[in-house]
Amino acid sequence: MAGVVLKDIRKSYGQVKVLHGIDLDVAEGEFVVFVGPSGCGKSTLLRMIAGLETITAGEMSIGGKVVNDVPPSRRGIAMVFQSYALYPHMTVYDNMAFGLRIAHESKSEIDRRVRAAGDILQLTPYLDRLPKALSGGQRQRVAIGRAICRDPEVFLFDEPLSNLDAALRVATRIEIAKLKEQMPQTTMIYVTHDQVEAMTLADRIVVLSAGRVEQVGRPLELYENPTNLFVARFIGSPSMNIIPATVAEPGDPTLISLSAGRSVRVPIATPSAKAGEAASFGVRPEDLVLAKGDDYLLEGTVSLVEALGEVTLLYVDGPVGAEPMIAKLPGIVDVKKNDTVRLSADPGKLHLFDAAGKAFPKKR
Ligand SMILES: Nc1ncnc2c1ncn2[C@@H]1O[C@H](COP(=O)(O)OP(=O)(O)OP(=O)(O)O)[C@@H](O)[C@H]1O
Ligand SMILES: [Mg+2]
Repeated sequence: MAGVVLKDIRKSYGQVKVLHGIDLDVAEGEFVVFVGPSGCGKSTLLRMIAGLETITAGEMSIGGKVVNDVPPSRRGIAMVFQSYALYPHMTVYDNMAFGLRIAHESKSEIDRRVRAAGDILQLTPYLDRLPKALSGGQRQRVAIGRAICRDPEVFLFDEPLSNLDAALRVATRIEIAKLKEQMPQTTMIYVTHDQVEAMTLADRIVVLSAGRVEQVGRPLELYENPTNLFVARFIGSPSMNIIPATVAEPGDPTLISLSAGRSVRVPIATPSAKAGEAASFGVRPEDLVLAKGDDYLLEGTVSLVEALGEVTLLYVDGPVGAEPMIAKLPGIVDVKKNDTVRLSADPGKLHLFDAAGKAFPKKR
């Protein structure tokens, strides 16, 4: 089985530079998820690992062997795409067996592998059906089954669930989580736009932006300790509230003044900061609570209430110049538009970033 190592991987299309030097070490059996905004280079990087795109510069190894010039068929990989593209005139069984027949596997070996994949993906009752008689989720499972049959060392997925409706996405996501348990030796690299998929499936998440790696870490590590403003905003939904601030007294804790005129002591050390330096103060919507009494962090006017039953989202017009803040409060909350609310948060849940957007690290 095989890990994947990327060393300073670069990609250009003519003059257009798409990836600017990606370093990444994916361990054997690890499930790594690539996330990032549209166009940041996720698919390009995955297709380079698959061998479907050339590598402009850098070194890529799979299972300890440099594969820069190894064709896709000899890399030990299988890839599942967003559009499942099954052969419409072939049964589920034949769709899964097709690649193995091309590779001249024996009939008994093909049968063994197709049935094993069907078993893993609960497709056994459908093996004789044509794709048109399957739901979208079942078809995507056949596409995954087709990849499993090839017994890959590295399994690549490019947004495999994005053509499915919400309920099927959840069901198929759970199938993929089970697949990971059943194939613990197989390295998996998965591209998605979906935060929940990233958070639930990944051993580690790679956040990409404009062809660069912003941060690599375990899902909750990225959530709790984003190392910069980009990751802070990208991970979590709704996004972290970011409020312009000034360092009033550097130290540990640090006293910051918010543009609204309030000062807050945050239990974060700022050894490199100087008094008067610009900073950004961050607090997640779900970490805000309605303040009792005069001890509050932020005050503002409610411009919109979204009552979802399970949670209530309050959009609060805060400091001048800052975007509206969002507070995500559990359950149903008795607050109306135009009410003035005071919000506070556990000091341990606050984030602080320097003028360049780099986080002052929180203590663990
Ligand atoms: N053949 C090509 N020629 C020139 N530019 C390309 C080519 N293929 C991709 N690009 C550019 O490379 C960048 C990265 O594309 P890529 O498909 O990897 O993005 P992505 O992160 O997968 O986006 P999405 O989330 O929308 O799928 C984009 O700006 C895209 O326009
Ligand atoms: Mg893509």
